[in-house]
Amino acid sequence: MRDTLTAPPARTQVPPRHLTGPNDLSLPLIEQLLDDAAVFERGDAEAAPLRGRLLATLFYEPSTRTRFSFEAAMHRLGGQVLSAENAAQASSAAKGESLEDAIRIVSGYADAIVLRHPEVGAVERAARAAEVPVISGGDGAGHHPTQALLDLYTIKKELGRLHHLRIGLAGDLRHGRTARSLALLLSRFPGNELIMISPPELRMGTDVLDQLNEARVDETDDLHGAITGLDVLYQTRIQAERFASLDEYERYRGVYVMTVDVMHRLPEHAILMHPLPRAGEIDPLVDADPRAAYFRQARNGLWIRMAVLDWAMGR
Ligand code: CP
Repeated sequence: MRDTLTAPPARTQVPPRHLTGPNDLSLPLIEQLLDDAAVFERGDAEAAPLRGRLLATLFYEPSTRTRFSFEAAMHRLGGQVLSAENAAQASSAAKGESLEDAIRIVSGYADAIVLRHPEVGAVERAARAAEVPVISGGDGAGHHPTQALLDLYTIKKELGRLHHLRIGLAGDLRHGRTARSLALLLSRFPGNELIMISPPELRMGTDVLDQLNEARVDETDDLHGAITGLDVLYQTRIQAERFASLDEYERYRGVYVMTVDVMHRLPEHAILMHPLPRAGEIDPLVDADPRAAYFRQARNGLWIRMAVLDWAMGR
């Protein structure tokens, strides 16, 4: 009986490679991950580098792109996946188990964990409790570092560079973890100008603004005025689930909507991005415009997440 069982690989003493937020990403690591993603996209990588490895995906909030692309990435790398797609209700969290205890337990079964959680800082807490790499799939209104990596990958692929760009981040910048992480990563590249476009109450947090030393930053609530000089417009959803009440959310719903008419203001060379899902911010009629990059952007998540898993679990 014993001979038929495959023992899990022995754990090494090397500290796990966590990715809990943008500050875990140095510029050389960002560049390495973007290059590796391009290798995976071209199909030039070693076959099945993560064969025999197990990834656990623990999602305490809903997801389509992040969970499916991480799981697809793991399968394409030759590994396998254990998944809790509704961990808040379908794991022992529903019986009161702490996040730390859950992570300690899952660390014993899997070689890495992707975690999405509604509380800011939850992924850092999980990393402290884990014996294996913990990768953020988003923590509340905190950060979403692999989304920011795939956003960089998309900008580089579409426009050919990540420097000396004018990028407008529009929508709910107070709660939008994708825009918060992307702003921090874009500020690492020289000459970028970030235009923060939001209602005053939904401004980008000072915790992010205070770290954007390398970039020029402007703030406005005027989308139509800001759009004309941009290379990238990064539209985001008003985050209904982060407001104290539906009434408060309703005050901002529909504040910025990209229509075919508004797209006329965006320069011909520019691209329109959105992390998705959209909830009315982009009229589906815009999808046919070649500058609408958001579905290509979502597809790029696969290559970036292959690169991130290979980095965290592979070499
Ligand atoms: N962009 C993003 O994080 O999408 P999901 O919520 O579907 O994972």
